Amino acid sequence: MCPFNYPDTCTGDPNRREENYEIDLHAYQSLNESRGYVVLMNLSIAGAGYVGLVTGACFAKLGNRVICMDIDEMKIDMINRGLSPLYEEGLGELLITYRDNIEATTDYGYALRNSDVTFICVGTPSKSDGSFDLSFVRAVAEEIGKQLKEKEEWHLVVVKSTVLPGTTRDVVLPIVEKHSGKRVGRDFGLAMNPEFLREGVAVKDFLEPDRIVIGCYDERSRDVLRALYKVFSCPIVETSLSAAEMIKYASNAFLATKISFINEIGNLCKRAGVDTYEVADGMGLDERIGRAFLDSGIGWGGSCFPKDLHALIAWAQELGENPRILERVVEVNDLQPLKIIELLKRHVPLLTGRVIGVFGLAFKPGTDDVRGSRALPIVKQLLEEGAIVKAYDPEAMENFKKLYPQIEYCSSAEDALSSDAVLILTRWEEFRKLDYKGKVVIDGRRLEEAKKAKIYEGVCW
Ligand code: UDX
Repeated sequence: MCPFNYPDTCTGDPNRREENYEIDLHAYQSLNESRGYVVLMNLSIAGAGYVGLVTGACFAKLGNRVICMDIDEMKIDMINRGLSPLYEEGLGELLITYRDNIEATTDYGYALRNSDVTFICVGTPSKSDGSFDLSFVRAVAEEIGKQLKEKEEWHLVVVKSTVLPGTTRDVVLPIVEKHSGKRVGRDFGLAMNPEFLREGVAVKDFLEPDRIVIGCYDERSRDVLRALYKVFSCPIVETSLSAAEMIKYASNAFLATKISFINEIGNLCKRAGVDTYEVADGMGLDERIGRAFLDSGIGWGGSCFPKDLHALIAWAQELGENPRILERVVEVNDLQPLKIIELLKRHVPLLTGRVIGVFGLAFKPGTDDVRGSRALPIVKQLLEEGAIVKAYDPEAMENFKKLYPQIEYCSSAEDALSSDAVLILTRWEEFRKLDYKGKVVIDGRRLEEAKKAKIYEGVCW
């Protein structure tokens, strides 16, 4: 059965294709030789940040028609000109190539009228107590509700923003119902469809997912999402709304736990003279464990892990639970960057007035993002101990400068290499090409090439 309001266009009958396309652009089909019929849809995406924009651009690539909505006029203008307002590998190319399938607007009414499904992809930043700020999600849900009031047809609302279990049902649902005057499950559908996109490889992650999780309030919503994701060959996990929300948090918490775990093992290995990477390789071959996310070093950062872990801990405490493992995962991660300073001091005992080269400021390679970067506590500590910091990063210097304008920023990695000692904090490819001979290098990210240094120390190896 067609999940939309256009039964004729969703029959899957190959002979009707041309006719349907011309009759109604709201729900059209294309013939895909290898996969049979695919239902293509009209989608709107609320929030043109990295999740919203990658989601929109990838859905457009798959043949859907996408309308991106944002309050930022400059972003809207750039997207409409086929330009990416943010740095994300492959995104700019998609926006220009599939320009005919994507438009952007600040007008929610226009977007809702001309789409059948709306994805909520706005941010959920942390508040100072670790809990998360739902104001953007609430504002968008209200706007969607107001626009649905004016729309006769059934519409599907999908939450993609990372939200704690219960948020879609207890916050989004009542807001949309209140402002639309409509009933969920009857007049509009509701679903939760978390994203698992890593910064820097988000386009690839979207197009080649390990799994797709869809939590649905009602069957019609489930049918629409099944049809939308039909082109993917990975497992599609169908759950309740709250389980879908929890899967996202549990996945991120588990990945962060894996890293903190291997860092704790790594600290032991370092004392015992064991190479943790050999240990991780040996462990990782056990299918039950897996090698991914067992790279030890100075810990995890980014816009997701720190925020999600803190939100999960705050939520657990609110529910009367004592999340011991999660708290220790964060604690290990907070202490891990200081290991590199400890090791540095074995070779440069007094940091006052000494020049320390900092290689890498981004929280990981492939991004200009410094949120949660391990470079932040490390630079803070170096400055507190009176060191002169010379930093270099191929992408993230501008962002870091906003937080630490007082350090020296080098125009090349070679420049930063002329220091009393060098700390490697991000595993950028270009750091592999440097000549470390004669240098003192303390490595937080396992850069094989740096082992040629006069003095080389790895954090966990
Ligand atoms: C993460 C999740 O991977 C993604 O699924 C989710 O949707 C968003 O959060 P991202 O923040 O882009 O993605 O970074 P990721 O590639 O996961 O790395 C996170 C941090 O862990 C980085 O600081 C990285 O350097 C560190 N890391 C990763 C390790 O220290 N060791 C590892 O083995 C892997």
